Amino acid sequence: MSQSEPGQEELHSRRFFLGGIFAFLTSIGLIALGAFRFVVPNVLYGKNQRFKIGSPKDFPDKQATYLPEQQVFIVRDGDTFMALSAVCTHLGCAVRTDPDKPGFFCPCHGSRFKPDGTNYAGPAPKPLEAYEISMGNSGELIVDKRTLISPKDKYRI
Ligand code: FES
Repeated sequence: MSQSEPGQEELHSRRFFLGGIFAFLTSIGLIALGAFRFVVPNVLYGKNQRFKIGSPKDFPDKQATYLPEQQVFIVRDGDTFMALSAVCTHLGCAVRTDPDKPGFFCPCHGSRFKPDGTNYAGPAPKPLEAYEISMGNSGELIVDKRTLISPKDKYRI
């Protein structure tokens, strides 16, 4: 009987020791997890910024074709192409083709843009963004939204 009491104490002290080790390792793990979340921020990177849009012949001449997934207008004028952002430069509404004249119209506050994206009416402070277009090996046009160009630098096929 008297020998079991020291065994109980030893068991308690072992449990206490293992509990301390567990608490210590748990705290280290939580700190490491916090540090990892700090290094890898909680960010969604969105859609691919460089994408194929199809063959040049897929786009009707003298028209702006809207690509809703990419929020881009492809404007074709003969053998020249432009990729214009469909996001208004005022407060970010989606522009649409102007029903009254060639170009684009923002329904939010009435900004108007020429077919090359130049702003000419309403509160929009600058032209629509224009993106680089190139030709892929498969003969498909590629738009790169990471590369802004001047609207004068149209892509010619
Ligand atoms: S958001 Fe387009 S005019 Fe204001």
